[in-house]
Amino acid sequence: MKKKILVTGGTGYIGSHTVVELQAAGYEVIIADNLSNSSEDVVDGIERITGIRPAFTKLDCNDKEGLNALLGKHNGLRGIIHFAANKAVGESVREPLTYYRNNIVTLINLLELMPEHKVDGIVFSSSCTVYGQPDILPVTEDAPVKPALSPYGNAKQINEEILRDAIYAGLPFKSVILRYFNPTGAHPSGEIGELPNGVPQNLVPFVTQTAMGIRSELSVFGNDYNTPDGSCIRDYINVVDLAKAHVIAMDRMLGGGMENNLEIFNLGTGRGLSVLELIQAFEKATGVKVPYKIVERREGDIEKVWADPKRANDVLGWVAGESVEDTLASAWNWQKKLRERGIQ
Ligand code: WQD
Repeated sequence: MKKKILVTGGTGYIGSHTVVELQAAGYEVIIADNLSNSSEDVVDGIERITGIRPAFTKLDCNDKEGLNALLGKHNGLRGIIHFAANKAVGESVREPLTYYRNNIVTLINLLELMPEHKVDGIVFSSSCTVYGQPDILPVTEDAPVKPALSPYGNAKQINEEILRDAIYAGLPFKSVILRYFNPTGAHPSGEIGELPNGVPQNLVPFVTQTAMGIRSELSVFGNDYNTPDGSCIRDYINVVDLAKAHVIAMDRMLGGGMENNLEIFNLGTGRGLSVLELIQAFEKATGVKVPYKIVERREGDIEKVWADPKRANDVLGWVAGESVEDTLASAWNWQKKLRERGIQ
């Protein structure tokens, strides 16, 4: 019998790619998503790729009664992957309480319900944002967590602490915390990808929209950082590679392979790329020019961060294999598909 997994936020960007990989690996997936930043059409895209339609329920994870009913209905759920969260850093500064409710209460609801429904474990979406500006690069999981610069980042830190305290208290579940670096690209089929609301805040969607002519030019936020070309450095990780790590983490959690009931992994490539290098890589991969101008630094930006993915490589046997060129080509393919569909 297939193992059943609940994926909250499963119609979102990383969630949808993970559902595809879970189904390909033989899991039965139930999606819960409030559709606040995604659409039910994504379920069609997942079905077109995998040939399997995941169960879908429109549900906000703040609705504990609704969650309880869902877990009761899908009796025998083994694991949860919790993606559902708000993720706009700037918005979180303006609306902190929304972020603390949506990004913290939802996790507490799930953790409170897991024991009574006998769910074995939860994989949690965390972020390299917990490291702030690391003192040593590449950054390992043992690097200190630095004070957060936004309620979004703070909520991720609090989530990690909640999980740590719950496991320490001996609650009957396991957890794997995955710290993502900068997820990028789209499924090679072009059936699913990132669909930013309004003007994209993240670099790669802004690059693809500029290449498409939706935006006239990209603003590069600062060229006076202490980096070789002066622009900020990040670790851009392919979203399908990222999704596959969730399947491995779930296999490990349900298969009894964890060394501790709480494990933390960096998910990155181990390679840092500056903003200007990323633009060049995009132009090389697609043959499309990206007009840009240098502007002031963006408040709150980290100068440089990239992962030491050795623990995930060694312990999970997972490697971010996709090249940045192929990843950017997949982002461009997705942007072109959106245009064909008249969306963007
Ligand atoms: C990357 C680089 C910008 C836009 C944030 C969150 C993180 C994660 C992803 C979840 C930076 C530069 C960007 C633009 C630019 N969370 N840039 N022009 O800031 O590393 O991470 O989003 O969703 O938790 O903190 O990602 O894509 O916004 O920026 O020059 O128009 O691109 O300054 O150096 P970031 P990003």
